[in-house]
Parts: sequence; C-alpha cells; structure tokens
Amino acid sequence: MNVLVTGASGFIGRAVVSRLAEHGYRVVPLHRNAEGGEAGPAWNPETGQVSLEPAGPLDAVIHLAGENIAQRWTATAKARIRASRVDATRLLCEALARLSQPPQVLVCASATGYYGDRGDESLDERSAAGTGFLAEVCQAWEGAVAAARQRGIRVVHLRLGIVLARHGGALAKMLPAFRLGLSGRLGTGRQYWSWIALEDLLRVVELALAEDSLSGAVNAVSPEAATNARFTETLARALHRPAFLLLPAFGVKLLFGAMGREALLASARVQPARLLERGFTFRLRGLDAALNSALSGLNP
Ligand SMILES: NC(=O)c1ccc[n+]([C@@H]2O[C@H](COP(=O)([O-])OP(=O)(O)OC[C@H]3O[C@@H](n4cnc5c(N)ncnc54)[C@H](OP(=O)(O)O)[C@@H]3O)[C@@H](O)[C@H]2O)c1
Repeated sequence: MNVLVTGASGFIGRAVVSRLAEHGYRVVPLHRNAEGGEAGPAWNPETGQVSLEPAGPLDAVIHLAGENIAQRWTATAKARIRASRVDATRLLCEALARLSQPPQVLVCASATGYYGDRGDESLDERSAAGTGFLAEVCQAWEGAVAAARQRGIRVVHLRLGIVLARHGGALAKMLPAFRLGLSGRLGTGRQYWSWIALEDLLRVVELALAEDSLSGAVNAVSPEAATNARFTETLARALHRPAFLLLPAFGVKLLFGAMGREALLASARVQPARLLERGFTFRLRGLDAALNSALSGLNP
C-alpha cells in the first residue's frame, strides 16, 4: 500500500512514518518546499504549489501538516495556524481530486479543540462544535476536504486529544518543569484534558487506513479523560516529584494569552464513541499506564 504523509517531519508524523514502514507500507513523505520535479512530490502551502504525480499511484494519504499551536497567538500566528490547516488542506484535497487515480482514503488530523470549552459535559462525535478560535479552525479544517470527498475519496477526520509520548508534543514541553518539581495544576484544575497514548494513536491510524466502512469524525482519545488536577498528580507521581504548586487562571492567561485559555484551561471531556462501537481496544487506556509507558527508561 502506497501512503503519502504530510507533516512527516513532525512529532506524530515521524512516528507514523516509521510504524507504517515497519508494517510493510511504502511511505512517501510530502515535505514542504521539497525540490519536487522528477525527484519526488512537492508542495508549498504558502505559495499554493503542489505536485503529487511524482509520488506515483497512491492508495492513501495521511495529512498531519499544520503550524504548531503552542505559541503566543498573535494575529499573525493565528493567521498561520488557520491557513496551514484550512488553506493547505483545501490545496491538498484539490490536488488529490485532480489525480487520474486518486487514493481511496485520506486520514486527516483534526483536534478535540473542535468541541471548545464544555465543562463536565460528555462529548462524542455527535456533539455540536464549540466556540472559540480552535473550535472555529477545526470546523473549517474538516470542511476543507470537500474536493476529496466529491471525488469519492473516503475521508476520516481524527479529532486528536493530547498525544502522549516523551519525545514530543505537550508531554515533552511539561517534563522539564515537572522534573524540577516546579509544577502544579492550572487554574481550578477541574478542566478535562482528553489524551491518547502515541502507541494507541498509531493503531487508530492503521485502523482508519484499513476499515473501508469508517469515514467522518473519529475521536482519537482514550475513554478516560482526566481533569488537569488528576493529570498533574499522575504525572508528578510517575516522575516521583511533588506537584504542590498552582498557577491560577489569570497567571495562565498572562503567560500564554489566548492559547492558555483555549488549550490549557478549556475543558473537553471527550469519548471515543466510534472507536468503542467498533470494538477498538486501547492498550494504554488508563492515564497511569499511559504515562508510565511514555516515561519508561527516563533517568530520574
Ligand atoms: N500532538 C498533539 O498532541 C496533537 C493534538 C491535537 C491535534 N494535533 C494535530 O496533529 C497534527 C500533527 O501534530 P504534531 O504534534 O505532529 O505537530 P508538529 O510536530 O508541530 O508537526 C507538524 C508538521 O507540520 C508541518 N508544518 C509546520 N508548520 C507548517 C505550516 N506553517 N504550514 C504547513 N505545514 C507546516 C511540518 O512538517 P514538514 O516540515 O515536514 O512539512 C511539521 O513537522 C497537527 O495538525 C496538530 O494540530 C496534534
């Protein structure tokens, strides 16, 4: 099976590329600003250039590209975050639709940010979208695949929670402070964080590639969303460190601005209803197990 992967140099992209290669897929990474031409496929979402023919016939595309959201959301950063998802997805899908032999499936990243800030409400794929910048970007991002869908490509939107692995994403950013014992809950700590172990996410990606009957939104989260307070305690315990501190909500907003409000203080208690309906079993379903696995081998 030939699989094109965008965002292949990123935290999730690197893991997806190596897992698929291990499992016998032929993986073609689509990096931005690649040379293209005879050498390989190329795209540059900023200039609107895309050339997919050199990749050869494709069976599947995994689309993970997007400007990292973990930065201060200035007006310019917000424009980059949005365009790198919405405009880039549209560009990619229009190019896929023009191929004489389009792929059968497009697995596209989205995020639990789709649901916005929803307190204790239990959310599944049928829940309405929320409000705020991230929710609005996620809706537009999912809507940007129209050309692919019209061409008959099966599209799966993986609404990703916080992906847990030591070497990247949110956990890698949290570890230095936690290892120094300089960590604690954020705001009230009652906000739900929905998460998934990287290992389980890789299995969800393979399921999305293989299951012809799966399309539309799929929440890629463990069934055991945790409050920020529980997440903090569990991570501190896994590292044998204290976590007595508290960063009040105003401090989070002062330090991180709107990103802190929407990504750190917002509450999304998301259920992977569609995965569970299909009998998907999470190997790392509980937070203790997921964090211990992510941190195994880390020097104290
Ligand atoms: N990690 C998580 O916990 C998490 C949670 C929810 C959703 N997601 C979503 O899942 C996707 C992959 O996440 P990740 O953690 O692997 O992200 P990442 O490490 O930031 O990697 C994203 C990749 O996208 C490409 N990229 C960066 N800036 C771009 C821009 N301005 N325009 C177009 N492409 C750009 C880069 O790949 P190239 O240089 O190879 O093009 C980069 O390596 C992202 O869309 C992210 O929003 C991740």
